[in-house]
Amino acid sequence: MSAARTVVILAAGQGTRMKSARPKVMHALCGRPLIGWVVEQALALDPERVIVVVGHGADAVREHLADHPEAERLRFVVQEPQRGTGHALQVCAGELGEDPGDVVVLYGDMPLLTGETVGELGAAREAAGADAMAILTSVMDDPHGYGRIVRGSDGAFERIVEEADCSEEERAFAEVNTGVYAFPGRELLACLPRLGDANAQGEVYLTDVAAMFVAEGREVLAVPVADPDEGAGINTLAQLAEARWTLQVRILEEHLANGVAIEDPATTYIDHGVEIGPGTRVLPCTVIRGGVRIGSNCEVGPFTHLRVGTVLEDGAEVGNFTECKQSLVGRGAKAKHLSYLGDARVGAGSNIGAGTIFANYDGRAKHRTEVGEGAFIGSGTIIVAPNTIGPGATTGAGAVVTRGTQVGPGEVWVGVPARPLGGDGARSISSEDASQSD
Ligand code: UD1
Ligand code: MG
Repeated sequence: MSAARTVVILAAGQGTRMKSARPKVMHALCGRPLIGWVVEQALALDPERVIVVVGHGADAVREHLADHPEAERLRFVVQEPQRGTGHALQVCAGELGEDPGDVVVLYGDMPLLTGETVGELGAAREAAGADAMAILTSVMDDPHGYGRIVRGSDGAFERIVEEADCSEEERAFAEVNTGVYAFPGRELLACLPRLGDANAQGEVYLTDVAAMFVAEGREVLAVPVADPDEGAGINTLAQLAEARWTLQVRILEEHLANGVAIEDPATTYIDHGVEIGPGTRVLPCTVIRGGVRIGSNCEVGPFTHLRVGTVLEDGAEVGNFTECKQSLVGRGAKAKHLSYLGDARVGAGSNIGAGTIFANYDGRAKHRTEVGEGAFIGSGTIIVAPNTIGPGATTGAGAVVTRGTQVGPGEVWVGVPARPLGGDGARSISSEDASQSD
């Protein structure tokens, strides 16, 4: 692993090719913005500091990273206006100081790269000698849009030429620049002031530093990435959609390896940062958002949407067309059909009948519902929050339990608005009106 002390992430560009008002690096992939994925790559090197160059949408990027657990290692440098990737490093010169040690540069639009690959590039640079630099390249079926790697007849690296500046012959080259570099810091700093903008886009290209190294007789290692997927840069929404699938497969493979049975990966959406215990089955057409926690031996899906703040305890089952948000479903509890559980806590072993709605929003604020252990909520019940249903209580099919009701332990409530039913009624309700599917 490399000893890079400083990682610089370039994230100031507007991303015009995305055709979106959102800053490019704030587009989400599997529940995390592009910049979040790249910060993880940087931190995998365990550097002293990570400098994030911001410009377009700077506030959104800074705000997103403000509560990162490693926030004290992150520094922000503003690049305004944005005059190219080389200019982005020029504005970092002050922050880099005189001797920044090894400097690894990452582009904020490369979410598929792994920390491992970046570490290997840094290590290759170190092994090549004190003043060598290394560039990660990729051989692509369709190199369109990337800077091409130009090599001499002996195969040695010569320079990078941007697509806009390519000759016909160069355009056909399949080896491209991924935009990941490991530099010796002092030598990089010496090159930066000499970068020009005499090119087709009138920008200051960081890529020109490589040709300067060659001209000065220093070694430039151009190392092809082992897995070409890792080299993909996101410039368009189509590339974003394609990258999502690559990341999704990685996340699903991790859960599968941990003993989570995912019946149909092609229709299963699991964000980054979801915990799932072994023995749990995830059935097709299911969406599980970031931060959700699922215990062991649960069943989720088909057609289930688990949103922020959902916790399923061991053995819980949430099924067909059921959505959960900010809700805990206790051990062995079930909500198997057509229900909405919002801002709720459902006790262990409870059964939430088909078509139950937790009406959590009164148009101004969200309110909570508590359902005790072993409760039996009849099909089509509407529980208007705030509300408490005691342990072992029952609601009849179609009951509307109005706002602020407290259904006592073991009580049976039926009707619209729901009212308690005593004595014999309790028996008749559980055998007939409360009947529901399981
Ligand atoms: C760049 C490379 C190209 C490479 C490709 C890999 C240059 C000149 N070209 O092209 O060789 O094949 O990436 O994906 O480097 N940025 C700034 N400030 C700026 C301009 C850009 O911070 O002034 C940031 C962007 O936010 C982005 C990254 O740098 O995260 C790359 O910029 P982008 O415009 O996407 O460069 P490409 O045209 O993709
Ligand atoms: Mg790019």
